[in-house]
Amino acid sequence: MEDALLQSFHKLLTSRTGLHIRDKDHEQFRRTLAFRMKELKLLRPEAYYQLLDNATPQSEVEWKQLMARLTNGESYFFRDKGQLTLLQQTILPELIERNRRRHILRVWSAGCSTGEEAYSLAILLHELLPHHTGWKLLILGTDINEEVLDKARQGIYSEWSFRMVDTELRQRYFQPVPKGYEIDPQIRRMVTFRHGNLRRDPFPNPAADIHEMDLILCRNVLIYFDPAAVGAVLRKFELSLADEGYLVTGHAELNHQNLGQLKTKMFPESVAYQRHLKAAIAPPSQPLPVPATPPTVQIKPATPQQRTPAARPHSHPSIIPPAKNAVPAQEKTNKTSLEPSSKLPAELPSNTEELLQQVKSLLHNGSYTVALEKLEDALRRDTDNFAVLALAAQAYANLGQHVKAAVYCRQAITLDSFAPAPYHLLAHIVEEQGQADEAKNLLKKVIYLAPSYVAAYIDLGALYQREGDMPRARQMRKTARELLQKMPPQEVVEACDGLTAATILGHLQEMA
Ligand SMILES: C[S@@+](CC[C@H](N)C(=O)[O-])C[C@H]1O[C@@H](n2cnc3c(N)ncnc32)[C@H](O)[C@@H]1O
Repeated sequence: MEDALLQSFHKLLTSRTGLHIRDKDHEQFRRTLAFRMKELKLLRPEAYYQLLDNATPQSEVEWKQLMARLTNGESYFFRDKGQLTLLQQTILPELIERNRRRHILRVWSAGCSTGEEAYSLAILLHELLPHHTGWKLLILGTDINEEVLDKARQGIYSEWSFRMVDTELRQRYFQPVPKGYEIDPQIRRMVTFRHGNLRRDPFPNPAADIHEMDLILCRNVLIYFDPAAVGAVLRKFELSLADEGYLVTGHAELNHQNLGQLKTKMFPESVAYQRHLKAAIAPPSQPLPVPATPPTVQIKPATPQQRTPAARPHSHPSIIPPAKNAVPAQEKTNKTSLEPSSKLPAELPSNTEELLQQVKSLLHNGSYTVALEKLEDALRRDTDNFAVLALAAQAYANLGQHVKAAVYCRQAITLDSFAPAPYHLLAHIVEEQGQADEAKNLLKKVIYLAPSYVAAYIDLGALYQREGDMPRARQMRKTARELLQKMPPQEVVEACDGLTAATILGHLQEMA
């Protein structure tokens, strides 16, 4: 297919769905179009373009097919612990209090994929409002991809969807079934799933129940959109929110956007946007505390089950071991800036080991702002501390602040050029910045330094797969499988989101 025609398909896709295809994904886009043409037995790309551009029922059917192949449906329960804590401890209690007299609460997971986000909200609301019989709750999940919605309605998930969930919570709300774990019918009944195209559908739309929303959660969706499309969807979100209702997006997904009537509200765990009808209107393009990550689209390289830790946007290899400590009480105060304060916080421990434990626990609980303040303070006192630099890099990466994260990774590498973890994190960062070759080089370095570092083989395999280099992708996964087979099954694998060797092996075997 000629480049000019490919561009026309791209334009059509963006105007219809908001999705933007990155330059490096054009070849995959071309292959996806060719695949659909073959399925439809269409010989000329022009005929396929016509089919998509027509306002006919056949065109609608084909868009559904195409979207199932072009969207990235990666999702899991309680994704982004910090934001979920913010919802559980601050935003949802506030909304419940505000609506206590009307007994109405309306929340929307926009771009809900296979339903994990909407069900996570339902579980939170079920816990906060155990006797919600008197309440009129709307928990709406919408998505452009019908296939993921079917899966959401079934409510059966593999272990992969629970990688950030305590076993205890899974046992409470899911039943083991032959194909995985099935959501409790009581929670399933709380959620309504519906097809919806954020770019094209008009809303607010009372007929579709999209109006006067108390909370809109639209995470890891707008990151794949063209900036103009983000602006258009944002205007519709704004108008669909109730007064003082909240919009929560993925970190940094609204950078440089005109926020209109939405006011930025900073919490220790994340930024949220609140609609204010009566109060002063926020100035346009109000800067957010995190720099932009370029809006990108990842053409789906594999099914969600096939995806590997490296293939997830905003998921970085963790160098933070799991900590179980609760969030300290002082963390619940609102912070207004990520800039480190000039004074040392009174509670900053003098002992680095103690500080590291404290910061790991804060990061584990999603309190990135406070953790970073402590790390920055520690770095002002001692610029040459590898562990502090590595943790700061991790925290900034988790916040989407890739420039700062990369600087700290490089400083950590200067201090200890034999430690694999900072190279691994840097590989994720540069990959998200579109530098796949640099990411591959860094991952090869990790393997050179630590030949049994399983995560690097998995990540390299995902990169090769995305480039269509299947022999190399398979080779990398084979090596990862061999290494995992030598490990005790219950051993937690380094930099793999706390997953055990047996769990990862299971996924790699599914992909073989
Ligand atoms: C990466 S998933 C995010 C799922 C969930 N929000 C989360 O963060 O775990 C992105 C979802 O956005 C959906 N999507 C992409 N473009 C869309 C559009 N124009 N309208 C509605 N959904 C869209 C995709 O189908 C996909 O399921």
